[in-house]
Amino acid sequence: MPRIAYVDGQFVRHSEASIHVEDRGLQFGDAVYEVWAVRGGILFDSEGHLARLARSLAALQIKTPIGNASLMVIVRELMTRNKLKDGLVYLQISRGVARRDHPFPAHSRPSIILTARAMNMVQADARAAKGIQVQTCPDNRWGRVDIKTVNLLPNVLAKQAALEAGFADAWFVDSEGMVTEGTAQNAWIVDSKGQLRTRPATHAILRGITRDAIIKTAQELGFTFEEKAFSRYEALSAQEAFITSATSFVTPVIGLDGYKIGDGTPGSIARKLRETYLSQQTSVKKALDSTLLD
Ligand code: PDD
Repeated sequence: MPRIAYVDGQFVRHSEASIHVEDRGLQFGDAVYEVWAVRGGILFDSEGHLARLARSLAALQIKTPIGNASLMVIVRELMTRNKLKDGLVYLQISRGVARRDHPFPAHSRPSIILTARAMNMVQADARAAKGIQVQTCPDNRWGRVDIKTVNLLPNVLAKQAALEAGFADAWFVDSEGMVTEGTAQNAWIVDSKGQLRTRPATHAILRGITRDAIIKTAQELGFTFEEKAFSRYEALSAQEAFITSATSFVTPVIGLDGYKIGDGTPGSIARKLRETYLSQQTSVKKALDSTLLD
């Protein structure tokens, strides 16, 4: 069965999908994106990702090219055509095609790309059960990482450096020594007093949709929680640490820069949050109300 992508109104073979050489997403990174997790055929947090997409488009003054209901029809059709049970749906919207020139073109139609990719959930669950090791690196990104743009070069370089050094990922640290977030995930700790902490959603981090869902889950479970930045040092002395994202759900971090966090095994709070989040998302109710209206 060929893998299928969606490009500007057409479902096409993934291997043949293409965009114009003067697409501004390609020329300038003038584009935004979203990533949805799919597990057991269910699209996670569909409304949250749509709301953030609208915010990202507005921040770049790209006119929203499609309504939410139509977009969801395409997403579901893409899932069906790819027989996607477990994996990811990727969406990118650029300002469109125009002669290469920095100012916004007077007339351009935003381009839309959607792809779907299968993911092995057994492997993902095994990775979470084991926990990951992370290294810190200076946060050298621009000042508006709260907008989900495709400008990800610092993230790409930080991830690559982490992998080459034998770590699974990297956490960015700002000039004050405070952790901002991961290369493609939000960063959390359970501090030495047992309080859950993640950085407030300012311009310094991407406000993760999974992060928001986990804040709610943590409160429902009765964990004490505070949106408060933490330093690399506090992370090293934390009881637990973990990351959240559409691709990792909740994945424990068991080591930082080669030092153990807690006893060096996945913490019970991170495990409980992952388990609860996954069961909340895949519950029957969620399956029923995940069909969105504009
Ligand atoms: N990344 N921070 C950054 C820098 C991210 O790129 C992401 C998501 C997150 C978590 O956001 P969410 O919970 O909405 O996935 C935080 C996606 C998965 C990616 O780039 O593949």
